[in-house]
Amino acid sequence: MLIIHTISELRTALDAERAAGKSIGFAPTMGALHHGHESLMVAASTMCEVGVASIFVNPLQFAPDEDLDSYPRMLDEDAAKAEAAGIDYLFVPSVREMYPEENWTTVSLRVVTEPWEGDSRPTHFAGVATVVSKLFNIVGPCTAFFGQKDFQQLAMLRRMTTDLNFPVDVKGMPTVREEDGLAMSSRNLRLTPEHRAQAPTVQKALQAGVSAINSGERDPAAVEAVVRAVLATAPAADKPDYIAVVDAASLRTPKVLEGEIRLLTAVKFGDVRLIDNVGVTVD
Ligand code: PAF
Repeated sequence: MLIIHTISELRTALDAERAAGKSIGFAPTMGALHHGHESLMVAASTMCEVGVASIFVNPLQFAPDEDLDSYPRMLDEDAAKAEAAGIDYLFVPSVREMYPEENWTTVSLRVVTEPWEGDSRPTHFAGVATVVSKLFNIVGPCTAFFGQKDFQQLAMLRRMTTDLNFPVDVKGMPTVREEDGLAMSSRNLRLTPEHRAQAPTVQKALQAGVSAINSGERDPAAVEAVVRAVLATAPAADKPDYIAVVDAASLRTPKVLEGEIRLLTAVKFGDVRLIDNVGVTVD
């Protein structure tokens, strides 16, 4: 695996691979890699002929009161994991390489970014859309792999890729879970033992919503009530930030459930905010 720090070196390497007829798989990350990230890297390197991953803690997607400075940076460990996942090129640019001048250009999307996570993090999605646009322009035509765990981010990046005609095929990969159903996240380590024991209720609550839909419920408010009732069985999780039963592309709540539906929630256990989601197809 080659570790590359500059845009020009990465472009030269990937242009040569494409000229040799090779397909490029790309897994963008901010590092502190866990099994979820590793699954994206394995997908990039096995579903395509050349596996590329990036590690860049993007300042644009952190609000001033968020944890940019304390965000974990552990390049040696991350590089070993990327190599074990079959990555050929690991792109690790500096902030100066990515943003040599004050950034005057921002990519932002309406509709899909406005509710849910957008309510509590109003500048976050524009920061993600801007850096991913830059990374797509740097890496070039490829298949890009993102986790379904951050479903709103995935829905936004799918729409951005279509709206801006990026020559990129965006693939959403299944959430990697602990045995008890808790979605993997670096934040899980910060849960107290008591909250860790209650946290799988998040996935159970969403699955209860799916069961209600599969049993014929088509009213989003009724499904939301089912999810809320199960969440309330975990004493620490009785006040979720949101429970959303939405169309999977627009993330809007439909009047009646049909087509691809996503159930999303964000729940705080103490000061650790967990997000999770599940999908269901309604015929
Ligand atoms: O999901 C992430 O890790 C980040 O938001 C991403 C897509 C790498 C952009 O910085």
